Amino acid sequence: MASRFVRNTLQLIRPVVSQQHQQRCYGAAAAATATKADTQTVRPPKKVNSSKHYLPGDFPNEQSLRLSFPDAVHKELSAYVRSVAKTKPNIDTMKVDTSKLQATQEFCKQVEQDHILNGRGFVILPPIKGLDTIPEMRLATFFMTACCGEPLVQNAEGNKGVLVYDRDASRLMRDGQRYHQSHEGGSLHTDNVNVPDVWESMFLTCLYPAFLGGESIVVSATAVHNYLVEVCPEAIETLQRDYYFEYRGFSNKFYKAPILFYNTRGEPCFRYLRDYMESAHKRLNTPLTNEQLLAIDLIDACNELSKFQLRTSFAKGETLWCNDVQTFHGRTRFVDSGKAGLVYDLDHPENRLYQRTWVKTENKDFRGINQSRYENIDA
Ligand SMILES: [Fe+2]
Repeated sequence: MASRFVRNTLQLIRPVVSQQHQQRCYGAAAAATATKADTQTVRPPKKVNSSKHYLPGDFPNEQSLRLSFPDAVHKELSAYVRSVAKTKPNIDTMKVDTSKLQATQEFCKQVEQDHILNGRGFVILPPIKGLDTIPEMRLATFFMTACCGEPLVQNAEGNKGVLVYDRDASRLMRDGQRYHQSHEGGSLHTDNVNVPDVWESMFLTCLYPAFLGGESIVVSATAVHNYLVEVCPEAIETLQRDYYFEYRGFSNKFYKAPILFYNTRGEPCFRYLRDYMESAHKRLNTPLTNEQLLAIDLIDACNELSKFQLRTSFAKGETLWCNDVQTFHGRTRFVDSGKAGLVYDLDHPENRLYQRTWVKTENKDFRGINQSRYENIDA
């Protein structure tokens, strides 16, 4: 009911949303800038037909979101993980011998084709049978990532398998805490925000669930795009112009890039994490314009609507594999059993723990669409 009310309300005001609504809620400047010519090339707002447009109602059975592994993959991956785990390797520096993972590689390439590049853009993978310890589960996902391409470094420390857990329950993102080091929820986003290069596959593995909360949320970026085309096409144009982003985790510098861009198939892609962008604009003493603010408020408003949110709780060992630039993801706030701390005791888990890996694959749909025209900007 709530989402229908919002939709109807927005539809009623649609003819005037660009002028009267902006003027009322965001001041006269927004209404004025919304019509101002911009030299940056933007694609006219247009709905996109794509299999990546989905709504939660399309999946009445939560199990249908989950794939199963062929027995050959369970067998091959568990055997290889066990043999490698004995050597206690460092995930950040190890080389993966994918020639020992042929069934796994074949399976991953097929899933990538059927579900990540095509299909709805995400899947949930089950735990690998017989792998129960945290180091083993970490390696299993890391090996699957390596079967898709080169796992990416995610910060200045060179981490490729980043652990997601609350480091300090009293420190929030508004204090500078990174999302993956906090227990806060909401703030649906894409991970592709702290480097200008575009990559597409993200793996998020549940190594230990929270005591309470921490439910995962997935939203179709295509559905949000098409909805905004309908209710506020001006925002689609604004989102294709530059915002400031931080190299958070890499350096204190900044770059500029649009939030919304399109891949070579003409499908909408997003680079979006509001807290980091707001921080960049604040640190650069360049406040977001009212027009920019309206556009990101519209994204957040859509992402928080029940009509768009697909929610599920991950069991230990399950992995979300998603097309990062075409899927908004997030979680609900969570509470842990133990005290938050900088170091996680992997042998005695009691707090929520996930592992995140990123990979740029060989497919061409996302190459050459780096929209950043300005990089390494100093404060
Ligand atoms: Fe994320």
